[in-house]
Amino acid sequence: MNELWIATSNKGKLVEFKTLLNNSNFLFKSPAELKTYYSPEETGKTFEENARIKAKSLNSVKSDCWVIGEDSGLVVDGLEGYPGIFSARYAGDNAGDSENVAKVLKMLGLRSPQNRKAKMVSCIVAISPSGEEYVCEGTVEGEISKKVSGSEGFGYDVCFIPEGESKTFAELGMAFKNKTSHRARAIFKLKEVL
Ligand code: IMP
Repeated sequence: MNELWIATSNKGKLVEFKTLLNNSNFLFKSPAELKTYYSPEETGKTFEENARIKAKSLNSVKSDCWVIGEDSGLVVDGLEGYPGIFSARYAGDNAGDSENVAKVLKMLGLRSPQNRKAKMVSCIVAISPSGEEYVCEGTVEGEISKKVSGSEGFGYDVCFIPEGESKTFAELGMAFKNKTSHRARAIFKLKEVL
């Protein structure tokens, strides 16, 4: 079976990738299985640039397989697009999900309590065994809740209400998220190129 390497150490993301790609003919692998792999610094200015950095870095050690890099995050209107590409480290380099979420709720309460519009973005860069590159992007519009609710998913799922709903992704659950999320939309496009 062909290997598909997913350049992430985020367990929540990895579970979603494996679920959403599950009917494809690949054996999923991630850098945690490599003894000597160090994740590259995310020095890009866009989701796409950072996804490319991740994909190219893993491709440099796994060039004979499909490799995908994904960069994703939460873009909040009332915070001028932040946390954006800084979503994983919005409250500091060692901050966890709950601290990042708390900062978004606090900053939005201070800066833009009425306009809570936001979107989640996922950009995937896939590199084929012959070196061709494909870019697949997905977004989901929504808004930031006033308080955290729900227990499923990861990251900002506890404070993101997708458009047309009144509950957060974390309350709506994984089956719902995997049908409608930014990552599901990006992976839908990815499946067409794999
Ligand atoms: P990355 O691993 O550098 O792409 O960082 C992505 C960060 O964006 C994660 O650590 C989360 O904070 C946030 N994020 C990305 N996708 C999701 C999602 O599906 N739900 C909630 N938060 C997400």
